[in-house]
Amino acid sequence: MSHYFITGASSGIGYALAVALAKNGNHVSVVARRKDRLQQLKNDFPKINIFSADVTDSVKMQQVIEECISHSGMPDCAILNAGKYTPLGGDQIDVSEFCDHMMVNYMGVIHALNSFVPNFKNRGFGHIVIMGSTAGYRGLPKSAAYGPTKAALTNLAEALYLDLSAYSIKVQLISPGFVETDATAVNEFKMPQLMSSEDAAKQIIKGLDSNRFEICFPSRFAFVMKILKLLPYFIYFRLIKWATK
Ligand SMILES: NC(=O)c1ccc[n+]([C@@H]2O[C@H](COP(=O)([O-])OP(=O)(O)OC[C@H]3O[C@@H](n4cnc5c(N)ncnc54)[C@H](OP(=O)(O)O)[C@@H]3O)[C@@H](O)[C@H]2O)c1
Repeated sequence: MSHYFITGASSGIGYALAVALAKNGNHVSVVARRKDRLQQLKNDFPKINIFSADVTDSVKMQQVIEECISHSGMPDCAILNAGKYTPLGGDQIDVSEFCDHMMVNYMGVIHALNSFVPNFKNRGFGHIVIMGSTAGYRGLPKSAAYGPTKAALTNLAEALYLDLSAYSIKVQLISPGFVETDATAVNEFKMPQLMSSEDAAKQIIKGLDSNRFEICFPSRFAFVMKILKLLPYFIYFRLIKWATK
């Protein structure tokens, strides 16, 4: 049995992960803003610890993590999953949307790391998991606010992997394709190989037990995205324009 700390578990992938990990007999502590959703999760799974906090609030996040540690002990694994997604094209520069995406998706992770990295270093081991996206591999249409936050998280996870292995802290990156959640419900296009959040949670749990740095799925979609990552610009841009016209 392990203790998992998950941000953004009031819906979608984080919720499915919290439920699956709790059903497997693990100790689970979760953070999100919507108290009603958290309370419902607690009613359904009384052993899950719920904390209401906004990941953009660094002081509150520190308090909540300290509270979690004093209540249930140091988590074995921190899954930093909270995120937002609003499709926004490069022709619609909206400063507050761009800022919000960075604050939630990127700084939200940093605020949790601010507590977990020193704690894991002191203890001499730990496990940090960052929720990226295959949308962070390269620039995509209507992803001008979201995509760069996931590219930044990918780079961050790589840096953490290199810096924290000396302290026996395992670092992993999750790079999903399309998962059916509240976040993707706004997409007006047909999402290739769309999967359920329960299936995504299964893939993630399998990946957490492995020594792979990146947990990416579904496999065929991830393979295509990885090939796209390698292409020179003149082919990449033509292909994406053709595929999304
Ligand atoms: N769905 C996909 O296809 C897909 C693909 C790749 C990556 N991802 C990533 O997976 C993660 C989960 O997304 P999802 O698809 O499961 O969407 P979702 O159902 O909208 O879940 C987002 C979660 O993040 C929490 N959250 C958002 N802003 C927050 C804030 N400021 N403070 C604390 N919690 C916050 C939400 O809870 P509250 O609103 O209650 O705070 C919710 O629990 C995100 O990082 C997303 O980028 C999703």
